[in-house]
Amino acid sequence: MTARTPAPGALEPIETASRDELQALQLQRLRWTLQHAYDHVPHYRAAFDAQGVHPSDCRTLADLARFPFTAKADLRAQYPFGMFAVPRDQVVRIHASSGTTGKPTVVGYTQGDIDRWADLVARSIRASGGRRGDIVHVAYGYGLFTGGLGAHYGAERMGCTVVPMSGGQTEKQVQLIEDFRPDIIMVTPSYMQVIVEEFRRQGKDPRQMSVRVGIFGAEPWTEAMRRDIEASAAIDAVDIYGLSEVMGPGVANECIESKDGPVVWEDHFYPEIIDPETGAVLPDGSEGELVFTTLTKEALPLVRYRTRDLTRLLPPTARSMRRMGKIVGRSDDMLIIRGVNLFPTQVEELVLQDTRLSGQYQLVVTREGPLDDLLVRCEVTPQHAGADRAAIGQALQHRIKTLVGVSAAVDVGLPDSIERTLVGKARRVVDKRPK
Ligand code: DLL
Repeated sequence: MTARTPAPGALEPIETASRDELQALQLQRLRWTLQHAYDHVPHYRAAFDAQGVHPSDCRTLADLARFPFTAKADLRAQYPFGMFAVPRDQVVRIHASSGTTGKPTVVGYTQGDIDRWADLVARSIRASGGRRGDIVHVAYGYGLFTGGLGAHYGAERMGCTVVPMSGGQTEKQVQLIEDFRPDIIMVTPSYMQVIVEEFRRQGKDPRQMSVRVGIFGAEPWTEAMRRDIEASAAIDAVDIYGLSEVMGPGVANECIESKDGPVVWEDHFYPEIIDPETGAVLPDGSEGELVFTTLTKEALPLVRYRTRDLTRLLPPTARSMRRMGKIVGRSDDMLIIRGVNLFPTQVEELVLQDTRLSGQYQLVVTREGPLDDLLVRCEVTPQHAGADRAAIGQALQHRIKTLVGVSAAVDVGLPDSIERTLVGKARRVVDKRPK
């Protein structure tokens, strides 16, 4: 155990500090970040100069609003290492976010960055109810994706026994869970559903698994999905949020005692919510785009990074730091079907309300002529394989129309007819529109 890791179960002092103490620390760290970025990254120097601001103009936290945003395109333009604020030989690790087109976004870490990341994932595991000595089964992918290694280092830092299983090989996942009897699983929520199904396929009761807590993230998931997983596996399901550019998993994590949205680890990441159209900072509680400024990162400081994630900032409860609401979706994932905005999570809520459906779903968007058409594909559970699928589909179609306002066709297939994502993030939208 490192000197800075508190005793099992004990909180770090900053987690319960007063708002004033926290804000004083944030301001001091924010000023350091702005100066560090300005001094060492030509992109930031040019962007600050173009906006007529200098790091010394930041005297209060509110002054941050005067500084320019950073977008994914800015990171891409500096591919691969142009955004690094330290000499390359001080970068001990590279990760990259896949990106569906073109070049990946590259992120780098100094040894200090890796250490702080491990500390924050350890803090996240503790908030999730994890303790020293727990066995942690990591089924996030290992590699350039930050999920596997991020979870791994944090669980080790926490003093846990880590099983670095990675994603895929579902039968083996079940075997190792049965044999090693982990206390905690860290995995995408959609792949947890696949593991639960595999237990059942093997004639085993998933509620008998040793796992106590699941720490789920890397993709949007709803309260309905939480209830579904908690009931089917008899575990507590908590939400972990993060993104590679800002660090990886552990930027925010829910507390098991409140389960009221991930607590943003605000001593390391300063959050803002902005109007995605105008860029104006919105008051806490309003829904908008989440923006982060890193406060302690050495290799890749980020100033006002636009995440594209839509959510709200909520007042502190279990910790002194603010929480974020569940991510509604990414602005890139929003569909506009005949003028009505729609996120996949809205359909997820409705699919999971019908216990005859398996919770697997896909939105297929097509276009013939000027308008987009939406087909919602879902499937019945094995127990309801003989049910009237057309009637189930009509009922879901009606609920989507009345509750979301979208006219969609619904196709209810047989069990297992929807392709599962075994590694990486679930693919909820299949876009067949002509490019
Ligand atoms: O997904 C990091 C991560 C790994 C987080 C494991 C949690 C667990 P990226 O691949 O860069 O990094 O993708 C980041 O995933 O901007 C969100 O859109 C989405 N996302 C991550 N966590 C959540 C969550 C990792 N808890 C992008 N809820 C983010 C909803 C999430 N969306």
